[in-house]
Amino acid sequence: MMTNNFIVANTIIKGEWSSVLNKLSFFECDDYDLKNAVTGIALKSESGNVNDLLRSKPVEKPEDYSFTKLYEHKKIKSLVDVFKLETTRIRIFKQEPNQKTSLHVDYNNTNSSKEEYLIRIWMALNSNKNFKYYFRDKNTSITNTICLEKGQSVIFNPDTVYHGAENNSNEVRYSLNIIAKPNEWLRYFVERKEVITI
Ligand SMILES: [Fe+2]
Repeated sequence: MMTNNFIVANTIIKGEWSSVLNKLSFFECDDYDLKNAVTGIALKSESGNVNDLLRSKPVEKPEDYSFTKLYEHKKIKSLVDVFKLETTRIRIFKQEPNQKTSLHVDYNNTNSSKEEYLIRIWMALNSNKNFKYYFRDKNTSITNTICLEKGQSVIFNPDTVYHGAENNSNEVRYSLNIIAKPNEWLRYFVERKEVITI
């Protein structure tokens, strides 16, 4: 089931970035949802540093965020540049086998006006039938289990959709996590059945 608050995009991004991912250093994070579940590295952050994964202000605004040195990497840059969006934090997360991110909501937009509202994009950077993504709209009791293909994205409202992920395989799971303002481009990305090759 899809709701207005979460949807799998019809557009797929095709490319080969596994050699880059294998070489990256990931950082631990103490936040409630990330601790002992995933490690991450920032492509865009508040300080511009790769180990800066969180936010510090009540309202997250695109103008307060800058690209890190990871964005200078050609492959990574071409992937991120596909997303024609005003963004804040952009991170890559790594989840080891048998690790689990429990279902939770984020209070990302608690202090935001309608114009400031941010959505979340998760794009699978690799795939395995035992990588599970979980979504449950606050207003329902149904948890949807999605197995994202490599290059497939899910877009959701982080404040109203409980989300989590689990790696039940024996390979490392990687995903791209983008926080952005929704726009017309994103609507086309969701609706059009296209393959973008980078
Ligand atoms: Fe979250």
